[in-house]
Amino acid sequence: MDLLDTLSRPLRALRISVTDRCNFRCPYCMPREVFPADHTFLDRKEILSFEEIERLARIFAGSGVRKVRLTGGEPLLRKDLPDLVQRLVRIPGLEDLALTTNGSLLQELARPLRAAGLQRLTVSLDTLDEARFKQLCDAEVPLSRVLEGLDAARSVGFSPIKLNCVLQRGVNDDEILTLAAFARDGGHILRFIEFMDVGTKNGWKLDAVVPAREVLARISERWDGEPIQESRNGRVAERWRYSDGGGEFGVIASVTQPFCGGCDRARLSAEGSLYTCLFAATGLDLKTPLRNGATDADISALIGNAWKRREDRYSELRTTQTGSLPKVEMYHIGG
Ligand code: GTP
Ligand code: 5AD
Ligand code: SF4
Ligand code: SF4
Repeated sequence: MDLLDTLSRPLRALRISVTDRCNFRCPYCMPREVFPADHTFLDRKEILSFEEIERLARIFAGSGVRKVRLTGGEPLLRKDLPDLVQRLVRIPGLEDLALTTNGSLLQELARPLRAAGLQRLTVSLDTLDEARFKQLCDAEVPLSRVLEGLDAARSVGFSPIKLNCVLQRGVNDDEILTLAAFARDGGHILRFIEFMDVGTKNGWKLDAVVPAREVLARISERWDGEPIQESRNGRVAERWRYSDGGGEFGVIASVTQPFCGGCDRARLSAEGSLYTCLFAATGLDLKTPLRNGATDADISALIGNAWKRREDRYSELRTTQTGSLPKVEMYHIGG
């Protein structure tokens, strides 16, 4: 019997954050004023070990999870990440293992990650302009490092790679066509994401959102495209195929056309708490029982009970009720 929440949604996808650290300081996620160089991140002992993550992933697979995505912070900062990948790909029932990264460490890590069995890769890319990248990502590395990482990943067999672009009005919405052309040329799948009010520190305003409809209109002025029909529930992106064979792109209309109705995603934070929504205020601590001798069945029951009680549909309620609710920060649960 499928585990269903109060809105009859099954649990199918798990996003696992492997670290709360990041080498970028994107103002919409980890603004430098809030996360200075001496910021205290979670201690090694506080974050789940690979053994613990693997054990939880097995239990989640037993509860219906079929897809796992590794996130952060920046997941590639976690030491020996390919070892975790190797452990996860062996888990019966898990059909898909993906990872979302800022791309800065792919040059070194793309090959070992591929060799370990990682199937799919998503790279965040908000701009193709070096100066703007400095402003938007406030990173220790130049944009060229990310682009080289992308090439490295493609050359070791990740294909197609998904590119995530968070659009902000007046910030990077003038790059829609440039980014689309870049992705087409490289054989990547670009997805434009509506800027969301995740966390409490990103100064979000509705005015800053570039609606997916507008993106589609801009792209259709340059290229013809047709929608890719999909039956699968739980998708976030609306997919489009270029009619000239130039591949596909997508829009993620998380603000203007929320997709909570089919949301089958849970999130596990680096310190082992379960969040049933990107916008949840609190998580369910799984680490304490895990470290205090709980059996797999005990933990499975905790997960099952949390999922059965789940009512989350934040994005659908956003406009009416959510104004100043407390929320988890994005870098805790990796988007
Ligand atoms: P696949 O469909 O497995 O390829 O991955 P994905 O699209 O879920 O993964 P990715 O991390 O690339 O997600 C893209 C973006 O969509 C995220 O960074 C978020 O901005 C947004 N997103 C993903 N999941 C959710 C969700 O559950 N709720 C909301 N509101 N936004 C989400
Ligand atoms: N709105 C939408 N997407 C966001 N991301 C980070 N912050 C936001 C936000 N406020 C994206 C990142 C990354 C993914 C994990 O989440 O760009 O691609
Ligand atoms: Fe790091 Fe990604 Fe957050 Fe930027 S959005 S600070 S790259 S975790
Ligand atoms: Fe799922 Fe929450 Fe996002 Fe809605 S807002 S799609 S319930 S994670």
